[in-house]
Amino acid sequence: MAKLSFFLVALASMANASPHSTRSMHELHRRDSPPGTFVKTDAAPEDQVFNLHFALAQNDFAALEQKLYAISTPGNVEYGNHLTKDEVEELIAPSPDSVSALDSWLSSLNLTSQAYSPAGDVRSVSLTVKQANQLLDAEYATFVDQKSGVKAVRTLSYSIPVDLKEHIDVVYPTTSFPAPIAGFAKGSTIIRAADSKDVLAAAPQSCATSFTPSCAQELYGIPTTSATESSNHLGVVGLTDEWINNADLQMFLMKYRPDLPPSTSYSVVSISGGVNNQSRAGPEADLDAQYTIGLASGIPVEFITVGQAANDPIDEPFTKLIDGLLNIKNLPSVLSISYALPESFTDFATANYVCNGFAQLGARGISIFVASGDRGVTGEGDPDLCHTFAAMAPSSCPYITSVGGTQDINPEVAWGVAQLDEASGSGFSNFFPMPDYQKADVIAYQKVLPSSYDGLYNKTSRGYPDVAARSTLIEYVWKGQYSQINGTSASTPMLASIAALLNDELVAAGKSPIGFMNPFIYANKDAFHDITSGSNPGCNTDGFPAVPGWDAITGVGTPAYSKLKSALGL
Ligand SMILES: *[C@@H]1O[C@H](CO)[C@@H](O)[C@H](O)[C@H]1NC(C)=O
Ligand SMILES: *[C@@H]1O[C@H](CO)[C@@H](O)[C@H](O)[C@H]1NC(C)=O
Ligand SMILES: *[C@@H]1O[C@H](CO)[C@@H](O)[C@H](O)[C@H]1NC(C)=O
Ligand SMILES: *[C@@H]1O[C@H](CO)[C@@H](O)[C@H](O)[C@H]1NC(C)=O
Repeated sequence: MAKLSFFLVALASMANASPHSTRSMHELHRRDSPPGTFVKTDAAPEDQVFNLHFALAQNDFAALEQKLYAISTPGNVEYGNHLTKDEVEELIAPSPDSVSALDSWLSSLNLTSQAYSPAGDVRSVSLTVKQANQLLDAEYATFVDQKSGVKAVRTLSYSIPVDLKEHIDVVYPTTSFPAPIAGFAKGSTIIRAADSKDVLAAAPQSCATSFTPSCAQELYGIPTTSATESSNHLGVVGLTDEWINNADLQMFLMKYRPDLPPSTSYSVVSISGGVNNQSRAGPEADLDAQYTIGLASGIPVEFITVGQAANDPIDEPFTKLIDGLLNIKNLPSVLSISYALPESFTDFATANYVCNGFAQLGARGISIFVASGDRGVTGEGDPDLCHTFAAMAPSSCPYITSVGGTQDINPEVAWGVAQLDEASGSGFSNFFPMPDYQKADVIAYQKVLPSSYDGLYNKTSRGYPDVAARSTLIEYVWKGQYSQINGTSASTPMLASIAALLNDELVAAGKSPIGFMNPFIYANKDAFHDITSGSNPGCNTDGFPAVPGWDAITGVGTPAYSKLKSALGL
């Protein structure tokens, strides 16, 4: 390998004037057109400077993955023996040959990369659009989403030298586009403001049309008593300038958790200059905060806010989040992430990089809950035009726990309202193969689907969601108003709160936290209420039906706290 690097240096210096004249290139990704309703408006300004990131081949991801499954699978001798940050980085660090191969290529433009991720597997370089175009045989341009006005500077294709294929997995930002919704990456929908004089009803029947923290406590058996272990934290992720409003939080707690001190708050952890500006309340951040701080009684909550310059067209929220989280030594034991985008908006290499980042966090014992999306089988697409069912990232990553949605009570059913094109995100990845922990359940489910669905979904891949909770008519406070909201953005913090409370009990009992939860979940389906009816119609089909056992709309079902507790040996 040393010889190869030497050879590359020689080649690169020969190629000073034009970096490609002597190199054949390998196209890493190409799309025929921008995704969704993005259209190209202009070439990107040639002298615009930005940071380009190169994710290098990781030393031994296969070993990390194997370790992740061993320590997360109940009954395995290594169960609960989570890795440290350093141990993870050792498995992920790139080979020095990859670093020198990258730098000798960059030297053709007099550029040098800097280590960016803590393991050094991601390196970044600051350059102009013109230089990036030259280096990657790319054509960076400005794209604007016709529905939301969201801007993105991206290229429709990019290449690297053939001889760097074994060294570079992905370059970003390139062909992965941001979520098309302005303001926040994934939609929860705001509806009417509820009457602020509403009395908090304890009667379960009211939970059908007005879902509060007491409803979640009652339905899922969540304890109301305060956690005791101050070392056990719960992290709420905020992307795309979504911030928690403190006045809204206090109003929410006073009405819906009068038993908690109204001053109950959270701490702020900043990634890439993220702030928590009180001048604008984010509906997503408010909801996520209220259903963690308001449910995970006594658990210290951290708001992990990822910075984004206003309307920054270069921004890539998910890679930035992963890179930031991997840098943090003392992470919360549970993360709640209510953001998603269709797989078709990103690209395999970028999604895979993000997903492998989640595996690294899982290996450190972190449970990660991700919203499955709110548009059922249509994703963000036009429900009348879709030819195949959409898959949502990062829910489609096999190393996280994807959370779907339900509605109603007695019985609680899968969330899907055809007229509104609102439904639990659902389906099968086109990127990630089916993991072993869900194989038996997913194959059994595929057998009950009509054969008319053949070709609409990917039969060999990861099915999601894994679990579900209530996602409609959720009471919360936004901009000083009692309001209701629909979305898996609500069910996700509920599951995260439950995991954090279980971790509190595990820590108190001297045990390891749950960590990556899926192998445990599929081995303990009885610890969930099976949701057996409802579906998410879309794409001119009935969508995915909820059935007895796992299904691709509510997973194994909604949580039953006391059963989860005993399954964990508590
Ligand atoms: C790189 O720097 C050298 C020395 O400063 C200069 O001669 C050369 O033109 C530069 N090459 C490029 C591609 O900028
Ligand atoms: C939220 O869900 C409820 C129940 O399905 C529905 O009546 C309401 O219209 C939804 N809100 C919006 C804005 O779609
Ligand atoms: C908060 O946002 C407001 C309005 O956008 C802005 O004027 C103010 O400077 C921001 N404050 C901080 C601390 O970022
Ligand atoms: C189906 O998923 C697999 C991964 O499980 C992927 O390799 C394949 O490309 C997908 N098929 C299509 C048509 O996208």
